[in-house]
Amino acid sequence: MRIGVDVLGEDEMIAANRGYWEAVVESHFDSDFYEVDKWLSTGLSMREREEDLLGDLTDKDVVHLQCHFGKDSLSIAAAGARVIGIDYSQTAIEKARELARRVGLFERCSFEICSVEEVAVTFVKDLADLVYVSLGAICWIAKIDSWAKAVDHLLRQGGVLFMHEVHPLAQMVERVDGNWSLSGDYFEKDSPMIDESEGSYVDGSDDLGTFKTYIWNHSIGEIVTALTSRGFVITHLEEHSWTSFLNAEGMTKSTNEHFVQPDGWVQLPLSFTLMATKR
Ligand SMILES: C[S@@+](CC[C@H](N)C(=O)[O-])C[C@H]1O[C@@H](n2cnc3c(N)ncnc32)[C@H](O)[C@@H]1O
Repeated sequence: MRIGVDVLGEDEMIAANRGYWEAVVESHFDSDFYEVDKWLSTGLSMREREEDLLGDLTDKDVVHLQCHFGKDSLSIAAAGARVIGIDYSQTAIEKARELARRVGLFERCSFEICSVEEVAVTFVKDLADLVYVSLGAICWIAKIDSWAKAVDHLLRQGGVLFMHEVHPLAQMVERVDGNWSLSGDYFEKDSPMIDESEGSYVDGSDDLGTFKTYIWNHSIGEIVTALTSRGFVITHLEEHSWTSFLNAEGMTKSTNEHFVQPDGWVQLPLSFTLMATKR
């Protein structure tokens, strides 16, 4: 990961990212990382922690922003909600629709191709009781305010935003010689961080070749301010020293499937949970 220089315009960087997301869907679907078969065998169960925080979802209207191939969207639908999953990747949405048919939730869970930036011109206002966002979403959005605008547009008064996301500090560090080392900026900038890795973050995707992707960091304060300046009330904000994927070699898996930093490491916040209510 390196700090970007402004070689491309924002639209070109977003188009490059979109190409990456079109290319990786199939290998993600088949990967150990996403464990689709295991999840199917559990009856599409939600993460226990999220179930506790979200409570009864029966007949709630939910929008899942940046739903990828729809695994989390379908878990929420299986818990009783009506769900719309939104993603700008056509390949991801086609895969999500196929999965919805396969698990018999097609009528309760629909999937639409749309970018977060276009939500307000594509969907009617006040659609949702809950907007759900999970790991690895907002770093693909250049301006956190355009994301907050989409959340605001979708939620009814009294509706709730739930997000469990990669912590912005985790986005800007790497393990080098046994220590965390800074490799990016904490605050949102026009020039993103540039990643030129082989494949994607799932094992076995190396044969997809090398992608150049562009990632924008948004600080906790910028995320909170984007929401509170629109009248949202933050009801839950928790920083976690764990995350749900192997953020760096040497992390270990705990009993509840969280990846944790071993004793002896400087403990950084790796993910965070935020809930906010639209007033
Ligand atoms: C890491 S995945 C999200 C994964 C999700 N948390 C999950 O576990 O299934 C990020 C998703 O965001 C989508 N995405 C990225 N930028 C987007 C944008 N501007 N508008 C809509 N979708 C976007 C990508 O196509 C991809 O499916």
